[in-house]
Amino acid sequence: MSTLTTDRAAGGGDEVLVLSNVESAYGPIRAIRGVSLKVRKGEIATVLGSNGAGKTTILKTISGIIDPRRGTVHFKGRDITANDPAAIVRLGLMHVPEGREVFPLLSVHDNLLMGAYTRADRDGVARDMELALTYFPILKERARQQAGLLSGGQQQMLAIARALVAAPEMILLDEPSLGLSPKLTREIFEIVARINRERGTTILLVEQNANMALNVADYGYVLENGRIVMEDRCAVLREKEDVKEFYLGMKDAGVRGERRWKKKKTWR
Ligand SMILES: Nc1ncnc2c1ncn2[C@@H]1O[C@H](COP(=O)(O)OP(=O)(O)O)[C@@H](O)[C@H]1O
Ligand SMILES: [Mg+2]
Repeated sequence: MSTLTTDRAAGGGDEVLVLSNVESAYGPIRAIRGVSLKVRKGEIATVLGSNGAGKTTILKTISGIIDPRRGTVHFKGRDITANDPAAIVRLGLMHVPEGREVFPLLSVHDNLLMGAYTRADRDGVARDMELALTYFPILKERARQQAGLLSGGQQQMLAIARALVAAPEMILLDEPSLGLSPKLTREIFEIVARINRERGTTILLVEQNANMALNVADYGYVLENGRIVMEDRCAVLREKEDVKEFYLGMKDAGVRGERRWKKKKTWR
């Protein structure tokens, strides 16, 4: 239908990140099973899934925190499967982890500096720090404050800003909306969209908040029990009955809907 979908199917061209048949496990628990996905240069892609679907495991496998049992991860055409996390950062791929994970006792400024730990060019770091702060003016005001004293939303901003200081080509973003008010969530998603638009940063966003994610992203994957069950352009996904029912809560979101969802085997 769309050229985007056709190009993808043909495997044609400008994918920055490609996962092929990736399986990762925690001991006996196979958290993701045969996950294949592509993210194209300059786009925002999203993986939607409920709690425990395997979203965080996908990101940890990409950034080298978890080594997959099967499958491959390619970044900019290079096989980075099970590479050292620091080496992956040096290639231009930054991971903003779930739950923000800022250093609470360090100042906002020093937290931002941590984003540059793989860089040697001091001038470049200073410039990228300034640039990162233009997206989050509140962090500039709070530069000398301990990061632990920031609100949850501000800590999320700090985690994203810290990734920007590394001047990455691509950012992996793990549930930035977690625990935030709808208003703050909207604000953060607007900034993410701006970063993508203005800097051309490629983004892979994983989210439970399907509504927000489908609005900001270009292409989406639906993850269920560690498997991709559906993928399409977000404009198309938004109109799919199943997505409306189960992820956007536009139909009966009650217990019956829940039960039907669990029984469901095929997606339409
Ligand atoms: N450290 C861990 N040890 C054992 N099981 C884990 C661990 N982390 C996640 N899991 C399991 O792996 C599955 C996927 O988890 P996760 O990737 O965190 O999902 P999501 O991010 O979508 O909520 C879940 O069943 C979860 O319980
Ligand atoms: Mg998670």
